[in-house]
Amino acid sequence: MSTPAALQDAPSARSGTRTVLVTGGSRGIGAGVTKELVARGRNVAVGYRSGREEAERLRARTPEQVMPVQYDLGDERTAASAVATVLERWGRLDALILNAGQWRGGRLSEMDAQEWWRIIELNLGGVASLTRTALPALLRSDDPSIVVVSSVVGVIGHAGDTAYASAKAAMIGFARSLAKETGRDGVRVNVLAPGFVDTDMTAQVPASARAGIARSTLLRRLGAVEEIARAAAFLSEDATYCTGTVLSADGGWSI
Ligand SMILES: NC(=O)c1ccc[n+]([C@@H]2O[C@H](COP(=O)([O-])OP(=O)(O)OC[C@H]3O[C@@H](n4cnc5c(N)ncnc54)[C@H](OP(=O)(O)O)[C@@H]3O)[C@@H](O)[C@H]2O)c1
Repeated sequence: MSTPAALQDAPSARSGTRTVLVTGGSRGIGAGVTKELVARGRNVAVGYRSGREEAERLRARTPEQVMPVQYDLGDERTAASAVATVLERWGRLDALILNAGQWRGGRLSEMDAQEWWRIIELNLGGVASLTRTALPALLRSDDPSIVVVSSVVGVIGHAGDTAYASAKAAMIGFARSLAKETGRDGVRVNVLAPGFVDTDMTAQVPASARAGIARSTLLRRLGAVEEIARAAAFLSEDATYCTGTVLSADGGWSI
């Protein structure tokens, strides 16, 4: 199939290896994204907060393509050092996959105000501050892209998740606004909203609740890390005419 004329005229990824920073890239969905991008031949900076060993295990498989970087959503200094480390090693940053997130359940009536704001600040504030720090480097890429990992609960809400779901919903507003701010510079900003995926984050959810979620999902099953990872890679680098979109990867749970 020939390339559409509009795409031929569009700036193509410059020569060299596309370089991506995946936050929370050491475990769960982020580790899946790391593996998917490595398989696609990318350089991947794997953000970890405290689990360096997991990140090192990913590096051991393909040391020339993977570099662990310490990054904590709640510590703006680590955003600056993570971006600086990537630029030092590879001299470029083409994409962010803002996957790191922290879940803390609780109904509004059960959560004190301090904890409630902490979850919002950590999840939403972390995404905003790393993006702000990385933007100058991204703007030097020929195909800069940001994928914000939200959640199905940010789209449809979920009882017992008011703080987390608020943060995930706000990320959608953040991404769409940023898409409007940076579209003219060629930056694509998209949101991925996964459904229930089996990871450490969801390990405490009882079997009966999992079964209930599977039953209310059109595909009648939970998601696999690899499926979410492919959707993230699609938004990051295949979806070249998509910006400001929210891609639900939830087996039809949200409709
Ligand atoms: N699993 C699901 O069903 C589901 C559904 C919808 C959306 N999501 C979203 O998908 C993303 C990944 O979830 P997951 O299930 O893969 O989580 P996970 O298995 O708990 O893995 C979390 C990853 O994020 C890192 N991380 C945790 N807290 C961090 C912090 N404060 N700062 C920086 N990094 C931090 C962890 O690094 P360390 O090992 O160093 O702590 C780890 O690499 C999250 O944003 C989550 O909200 C998940």
